[in-house]
This record gives sequence, structure tokens and C-alpha cells, in this order.
Amino acid sequence: MDSPSEPTGIVDGNPRSLPDLNVDAWGQLTSAPTQKKHPFKTCFLATVAPDGQPDARTVVLRQADEAARRLWFHSDVRAGKIAHLQANPKATLLFWDDEAQVQLRCHVQTTIHTDDPIANEQWANVWEGSRKMYLSEFTPGSVQPGPYPGFPEPLGQNLPTRAESEAGRPNFAVVECRVMAMEYLRLSRAGQTRARFNYENGRFEWLAP
Ligand SMILES: Cc1cc2nc3c(=O)[nH]c(=O)nc-3n(C[C@H](O)[C@H](O)[C@H](O)COP(=O)(O)O)c2cc1C
Repeated sequence: MDSPSEPTGIVDGNPRSLPDLNVDAWGQLTSAPTQKKHPFKTCFLATVAPDGQPDARTVVLRQADEAARRLWFHSDVRAGKIAHLQANPKATLLFWDDEAQVQLRCHVQTTIHTDDPIANEQWANVWEGSRKMYLSEFTPGSVQPGPYPGFPEPLGQNLPTRAESEAGRPNFAVVECRVMAMEYLRLSRAGQTRARFNYENGRFEWLAP
């Protein structure tokens, strides 16, 4: 429970304690996948390649669960990022809300689901437009003799039928991200707010920006 003497920061004129900020952040994460234009709908996934090279790319946040401290995104199982995560399951997901001036930096431990009930359940909810990309005949990132659209060329602008799209299922992966710690940063001329929530040891701390 928040005690009345608990230190608070001021966000949009409202006093916010560390537990308040944590709840605010998760509220934004859980609502993002259901909203078309939410700034947390996409994020940057940072991984480290087996040769030690750090890498980053955009992914779509598909689901967030505050109680389980989990975030999920989808990928082609043949993608480079999956090889990175197989070698080193630790990653960072970075979110930025330009309007609210809030950055969330999530340190995560990933689990890759390909052929299990979690992957089956999420695949069932993927629409044909997204399934189309899993029909690619080629490994993502492989060199091609010319431009390749990422799906069998005869499909063109068309969507595959639901039955046709099933051919993409073997290439589909769900990446489950267990959030071990999250860092919150809000920029403001009146003063910046920086805090860290460590879910492994339960410690919530204010940080110097
Ligand atoms: C707006 C946007 C959203 C994207 N969403 C995803 C995604 O959810 N999953 C994914 O694997 N790649 C996604 N991509 C493509 C990746 O950023 C990346 O280019 C591609 O997956 C290859 O990355 P890799 O070689 O590191 O695996 C997205 C790209 C953009 C621009």
C-alpha cells in the first residue's frame, strides 16, 4: 500500500508514487495492442548476435499482461533475431511515447514458441494480411537476385485465403518476453522523472535522470 509519506514525482500536475508510475506504465503497455495508433504499439527490440554485435529493429507489441509481467511479439522463425535470441535469450524492448514524453526500457528474458499451444493460439488470431509474410519462400535477410516482396510473387496485392495462409504456420514464432526490470523516464522542462522497477527482487527505486 502507498503510505502518505511515500515520495512522489509530479506527472501532468498529479503526484505519482513509484507504484503509481509502474501501474501507469503497464496500463499503457496493455492497452497499446488493442489501439490502432498507440505509441507503444511498436517498439525497438535490441539483441546481441552470437559474435557480440548488438542489433536493434522494430517489432509490433502483440500482447501485454501486467500480472504475468509478460510482453509478446511475433516473428518469422527463420529471422536473424530468432537466432540471436536462441543464442542469448536476454533482450531489451524500448518504447517511446512522443506526446507523453515517456520512455520505457524493458529488460526481458525471452522464450520462443513455435510448435506449442501458445503459438497455435496466437496464430489462430493472426489475420491473412499478416499471415501473408509467413509465406515467404526465402529466409528473411537472405540475398536475392532482385527485389523480393516477402511472399510468393503471384499473390501480388491479394491476400491468401485462410486455407492458403496455413502454409505459413511452420514459419511462425511467438516470442514471449518476461520483463525482469523496467525503467521509466519522463522528460519535462519542470523536471525529469526516472525510476526503475525490478520485478525479480521487488525493488522500486527513483533514479537520477
Ligand atoms: C513498423 C514495423 C513493424 C515491424 N514489426 C515486426 C514484427 O512484429 N516482427 C518482426 O519479426 N519484424 C517486424 N518488423 C521488421 C523488423 O524490423 C526487421 O526489419 C526484420 O524482422 C528483420 O530483422 P532481423 O534480421 O533482426 O530478424 C517490423 C518493421 C517495421 C518497420
